[in-house]
Amino acid sequence: MIPPKQVQDILDATRIEEVIEEFVTLRRRGVNMIGLCPFHGEKTPSFNVNPARNIFKCFGCGKGGDAITFLREHENLSYIDALKWLARKYNIEIQETERTPEQVAEMQFTDSLYIVNDFALKHFQEQLFDTDEGKSVALAYFKQRGLREDTIRAFGLGYAPEQRDLLIRRARATGHNIDLVKKVGLCSQDGGRDFFRGRVMFAIHNISGKVAAFAGRTMSSDKTIPKYINSPETEIYIKNKTLYGAFQAKKAIRQQDECLLVEGYMDVISLYQAGIENVVASSGTSLTEGQLQLIKRNTNNLKILYDGDPAGIKAALRGLDLALEQDLNVRICLLPDGHDPDSYVQTFGGEAFKTFTTDNAKDFILFKTSILLEETKGDPMRKATLVKDIVSSISKIPDPIKRSLYLKECSSLLEVSEQALISESNKLISTLLKKREEKAARQPSAASDSPPNFGGYEWPTDPPSVGDPVDTAPVFPPRREGEGMSRSDEFQERDIVRLLVQFGNQVLDKEGVSIAEFILVDISESLSDFDNSLYGKMAGLCYDLLLEQKTPDQNFFIHHPEKEISDLAIDLLTSPFDMSHNWEARWGYPLQNQPIPDLNFDADMRQALDRFKLRKLNKLCNVLNPARIKAAAESENMEEVIRLMRIQEKLKSTRNELAKKTGTIVLP
Ligand code: GTP
Ligand code: MN
Repeated sequence: MIPPKQVQDILDATRIEEVIEEFVTLRRRGVNMIGLCPFHGEKTPSFNVNPARNIFKCFGCGKGGDAITFLREHENLSYIDALKWLARKYNIEIQETERTPEQVAEMQFTDSLYIVNDFALKHFQEQLFDTDEGKSVALAYFKQRGLREDTIRAFGLGYAPEQRDLLIRRARATGHNIDLVKKVGLCSQDGGRDFFRGRVMFAIHNISGKVAAFAGRTMSSDKTIPKYINSPETEIYIKNKTLYGAFQAKKAIRQQDECLLVEGYMDVISLYQAGIENVVASSGTSLTEGQLQLIKRNTNNLKILYDGDPAGIKAALRGLDLALEQDLNVRICLLPDGHDPDSYVQTFGGEAFKTFTTDNAKDFILFKTSILLEETKGDPMRKATLVKDIVSSISKIPDPIKRSLYLKECSSLLEVSEQALISESNKLISTLLKKREEKAARQPSAASDSPPNFGGYEWPTDPPSVGDPVDTAPVFPPRREGEGMSRSDEFQERDIVRLLVQFGNQVLDKEGVSIAEFILVDISESLSDFDNSLYGKMAGLCYDLLLEQKTPDQNFFIHHPEKEISDLAIDLLTSPFDMSHNWEARWGYPLQNQPIPDLNFDADMRQALDRFKLRKLNKLCNVLNPARIKAAAESENMEEVIRLMRIQEKLKSTRNELAKKTGTIVLP
């Protein structure tokens, strides 16, 4: 634990542009600095850093946040490690407070597992490079397979000689705890035999480059012994969250905005050596959700290279719906007969490989359709199953535009009417949605709190995260109550929250009160009926602060411990101010030719308040109050009816006045 006071010191010292400039070349543009986004490949800069607010935002991929977010995403650091990174940079000494004994024990335990693996890595490398046997047997093997020495070192390759307990003896001699050697699976449970013997060794790194496990390959061609053996799962090696090569590949994946997926260790290494660095391996199993998330953090584009037989490929395709659910663009490339990526690149070289895979990659859905179609020729029953299979894959895609394009395309491939495919797909989606809603009902705080997705915004927000493995429904944008006229008040609510975040602590000259106070006192009765629960929560938070005599400022929101709040704050603070065109067209509010709101927060606020109140009044006039009148009439409570009718008159005239003031046309 770093004490809060020191966290604050670190954050105060941090200049975001200084942090980001260690990774990205920035140049000044107005008050901002811009550069090429390190999170997605781009040729024209859309990555903005705002020194005044200490935040960054990419208009291309939507990533944004403060220096901590940047370090976490870019360097894959934990929150604490990001703070430590900043502390080092700004020469702030951290005095960590006491951890609980359990925390200490756990950290020491995982650290000690890494230490044992490090020891083993060095041992295997020594055996490879510094012994006669290693050089003549194992190093010769790697070289004969076309690997250079720098590649062999970069991937932590090694050698375990055919000896009963060489590693155990070395571990003992250097003071390592044999229980830990057992724990990471480097020796038998009785401590008598090394696990890896007579094999060339592959270190398996975690995403930050620590050795999490090993794989050992036999050099014999005897089919009765397993080609590879692997370390068991441990606290530091969770197979379905590990992708071989991810550590070495992550930078290239981001830069090229594409991840290549191959099957084997050797495929990764050979491609990397040939200059194709954006490559990872699933290590012979089908892709898991955890692995997909690892990919998704770096790119949306996945190209899968297959070398197997048609039956193997068909089986592999089945697992790929998971990738569609994550909204990855999946392409498939089959290598020519008899070649795997390793042999192809060793035979023809990196350039030929790039050309081939660029020219021959096919969209996953279309690929799947065409190979399944191949084998159902003339069999209507099987074709029906195939159609269902394809439509089910398409229905997993969260993006409706992509979905409809696929349905169109597949309709002509399958020779089935587009309408039939659409209605089949709609059926599946509504089943998925129902499941999702049932689930949300069981866990009330889950999906309903996500911020709305305003189609009119030019800057994309972060994609919704798909965290829950049992949730198989695609991530659809949150539903809106009746589109069109009775559209919910979220836009006005967002605007209010934006003002609170952006200018909450600024003081109004005339009234001498803060903007937050002015707004919240004005709308205090409406605090509980925000349509969007997150906006309501933000407004409520501010209100609570005011009650404590505190004024919220931007940092309060940007560094708020709840991610949805800090994310929204960043988003609001970086939203474009020149949205007047959109705004006007979309919402029917004539906006004056206003200067950027920073300079004009007073007018900005009054307008936003008026609009907010107008929406609430409209709802009262058009929906809530009439419903009350109706209910009172039905229960023949005439007194109440009359009272409510009077209120209705008053509401209407207030509403009309406000409408006139904001220049809004109110429909009767
Ligand atoms: P080479 O045959 O040396 O080119 O290795 P490769 O990495 O290309 O292996 P291959 O294509 O045969 O298999 C792909 C991946 O499946 C390997 O990298 C391993 O991760 C995994 N694999 C293959 N054989 C075995 C095995 O016998 N046991 C285990 N646990 N995994 C295996
Ligand atoms: Mn191979």
